[in-house]
Amino acid sequence: MSDTPVIRTALGGFPGYELLDSGHRRKLERVGAVTIIRGEPKAWWEPALPPAEWNRAQAAHDEDSGWNLRPGCPREWSLRGNGLTFLTRLSDSSKHWGLFPEQSPHWQAIRQAAAPGARLLNLFGYTGAATLVAAQAGWRPTHVDASRPAVAWARENQQASGLSDRPIRWIVEDALRYVRREIKRGSRYEGILLDPPAFGRGPDGRVWKVERQLPELLDLCRQLFSERPRLMILTTYNIEASSLMLRNLLADSLRVPADTIEAGELALPHAAPPGRLLPLSIYARWSAP
Ligand SMILES: C[S@@+](CC[C@H](N)C(=O)[O-])C[C@H]1O[C@@H](n2cnc3c(N)ncnc32)[C@H](O)[C@@H]1O
Repeated sequence: MSDTPVIRTALGGFPGYELLDSGHRRKLERVGAVTIIRGEPKAWWEPALPPAEWNRAQAAHDEDSGWNLRPGCPREWSLRGNGLTFLTRLSDSSKHWGLFPEQSPHWQAIRQAAAPGARLLNLFGYTGAATLVAAQAGWRPTHVDASRPAVAWARENQQASGLSDRPIRWIVEDALRYVRREIKRGSRYEGILLDPPAFGRGPDGRVWKVERQLPELLDLCRQLFSERPRLMILTTYNIEASSLMLRNLLADSLRVPADTIEAGELALPHAAPPGRLLPLSIYARWSAP
């Protein structure tokens, strides 16, 4: 049997965002007018830029002490692109600032698969990027996240983006529990997005472990699809897994042949040197033909 190019590298990005450099398990990013440094476990290589460039960063995150801000560096600002506005926030409870630009290839797929009134379930939705892209494109999204602050932040993004009139259901709930409840209620969706963390907690403190609960969650998702499914996307990071594994799981969940599913890595290009890519997560994605 000959080799077949089944794995893709999908490059993300967002207006106003640049991955300036990475290396020594850290990354240097520009988010609007602010340059920041965060830990990046996958960046094993040497940084390309000299230390002087890294030293100019206005904020740096440390696992133990949180964000360390230079005088004058804002804690909150916003980033605007593709007709959406996202509030950017450096909070000591997280090294994340509110958006995952590497997810942008998924946003494109969400736009392409949109149909007026089609229902989309966004599990583990965080600050709502995919939910707002979907609402903007005409989907009727249901956004589920176990974190009340994350859902509140997503709602702020909805307002900042001028999408307050869109029919979005905001749910603070454990993903698995919500899906079980939706099955009982007989709810149906044309699209389902899953972006589970390796480890998490539901609002009641119940532990989520991706390797233990994902197969069950995917199995339950099958029961939530309407007769005309349009889109399913599964993304994972920081776990022992390959995108081929996600592809097989999605094929099971949708009951479609594995070779109808795109699988690969989400990566970000560096501003310099050209050609160097930072891998960030793996994914499997199915769109109705
Ligand atoms: C990395 S984020 C997802 C990123 C998001 N898809 C985006 O592109 O912006 C993972 C999210 O899962 C949520 N989470 C963790 N455990 C959960 C659970 N058991 N049920 C629902 N959400 C959970 C976290 O609060 C967090 O917002």
